[in-house]
Amino acid sequence: MTELRKSIIIAIDGFSSTGKSSFAKLIARDYGLLYLDSGALYRAVTLFAMENGFITDGKLDRNALLPFLSDLHLHFEYINGASVTFLGGRNVENDIRTLQVASNVSIVASDPQVRNFVDNILHSYRDKGGIIMDGRDIGTTVFPDADLKIFMTASTEVRARRRAAEMEQKGLKCSIEQVRQNLEERDWIDSHREVSPLSRAAEAIELDNTDKTLEEQMDWIRSLLKEKFGLSPIR
Ligand code: DC
Repeated sequence: MTELRKSIIIAIDGFSSTGKSSFAKLIARDYGLLYLDSGALYRAVTLFAMENGFITDGKLDRNALLPFLSDLHLHFEYINGASVTFLGGRNVENDIRTLQVASNVSIVASDPQVRNFVDNILHSYRDKGGIIMDGRDIGTTVFPDADLKIFMTASTEVRARRRAAEMEQKGLKCSIEQVRQNLEERDWIDSHREVSPLSRAAEAIELDNTDKTLEEQMDWIRSLLKEKFGLSPIR
């Protein structure tokens, strides 16, 4: 059983703001797994592109960005149990969560070379122990051999309210309407792009959490992990 905890791969995919990361972080903590936030990597590349003037009016100058990719050092550090995104030596965890970055990230994430770059970073964590990742294409493209695939959904209204509250908590100003628009735009681009579009893997188990609290979702996953793998939480 301990061996499984060290090698299990759990993929959580779904639309923006369905609570994938909060859910994945709690599972990681309770089961001693490493949490990987794939969206944070796309956001960090986007931040880099924005800060260097490679995005104008929502258009990415990919010829300007791509030569920098191989020298871009992106990694996660785990500070007090929380995953923190680093771009080179700089902690960008807060800077990547703004609405400006959210407005540009889907364009950057549509680029096949950016996707390849991010996939390589995610793959490099494979041997670091049991991992749980959230994103859009983890179960379909990044780790198609994942032991467990979950596809999360929730109503747009509930997602917009949750994300606006989260941003407010971080001191980032925006209206629910702005957040809803951004979610709908990202859902559309993420599910219609040519490379690795957001889609549910055939074997993924769907979790609609529109009316579920995080605790109810944790009860659900505890039963599932016990039943499917005989895994129990370590805390
Ligand atoms: O999960 P998030 O909202 O932080 O993700 C930010 C963006 O990154 C999202 O709009 C789409 C993109 N993304 C992706 O294309 N593939 C992933 N595996 C994760 C995120």
